[in-house]
Amino acid sequence: MITPIERHEQFITTSAGGFNRQHPAMRMFQKAKQLGVWDPASIDFSQDQQDWQQMSELERDVALRLVSLFQAGEESVTLDLLPLVMTVAREGRLEEEMFLTAFLWEESKHVEFMRRYLDEVAGAHHDLSHYHSPSYKTIFYEELPRSLNRLLTDPSPTAQAEASVTYNMIVEGVLAETGYYASFEAFKRSNLLPGFTQGLNLMMRDEARHIAYGVFLLSRLIVEHEEVWEVVQQRMMTLVPPAMGVVQEVFSAYDGEMPYGLTQDEFLGYAMNQFDRRYQRLERAKSQTLEQIYRIADQTEEASSE
Ligand code: MN
Ligand code: FE2
Repeated sequence: MITPIERHEQFITTSAGGFNRQHPAMRMFQKAKQLGVWDPASIDFSQDQQDWQQMSELERDVALRLVSLFQAGEESVTLDLLPLVMTVAREGRLEEEMFLTAFLWEESKHVEFMRRYLDEVAGAHHDLSHYHSPSYKTIFYEELPRSLNRLLTDPSPTAQAEASVTYNMIVEGVLAETGYYASFEAFKRSNLLPGFTQGLNLMMRDEARHIAYGVFLLSRLIVEHEEVWEVVQQRMMTLVPPAMGVVQEVFSAYDGEMPYGLTQDEFLGYAMNQFDRRYQRLERAKSQTLEQIYRIADQTEEASSE
């Protein structure tokens, strides 16, 4: 249980050598200020509006389905991040909290981007929740809020690990990355929706930093607490089936008639590959020192996105 903090005994930034500007989270914060500052309100949707009118009903339905999954996903990560921010703040990890403020701000921009798209391009003001399939509901309606909000009553290292695996590894690392990447490729190949692909590209860069933080956090927890690796492994395995289910359920809704050259194999292959890469990264942390974790934390994820 969290005990309320009644007073500060000291401040990190005014103590001798307390604040670490070389902390990996601070390096991520610098990148967030340079790369995360783009405005969803200023992306030009005029070509997208024309494209939307020319698209077939099937093409519009697939695009609307994808946006509805992205939209609720962005809303849930925005709503559910706060317990983790609070946990990190209460542990006095100021550098990490500072990065998480940028993280949360970026998720809010993603919410804005998708909603702007629904309003201004798709003109979709009706209820879209029928697009949320059973596996999608398992992850976004249940597992994500439950594992994050549990931190309000149980901020233990293993609870943090379960929350971060769910949020950073599965929701961001497998689902968001796969969904954004595949949609980006598909619309680009079809020469459609340039405003949407521009936004997806910017969001992928933000997500890469978020995932880099998740890898850092989980690696730190794995090194600091012996019992964490087992929990990480378990949680990853528990969430693979519903994560792959989200992809499969998108395709099964169209019965082999998927437009834009989207194929289930390409999607699933990409998703599985993301999963394997993250799993191996975390597995490596077991044999690393805390010093190594701090040194390499922000490098590989972002190198792949820039
Ligand atoms: Mn996002
Ligand atoms: Fe994110």
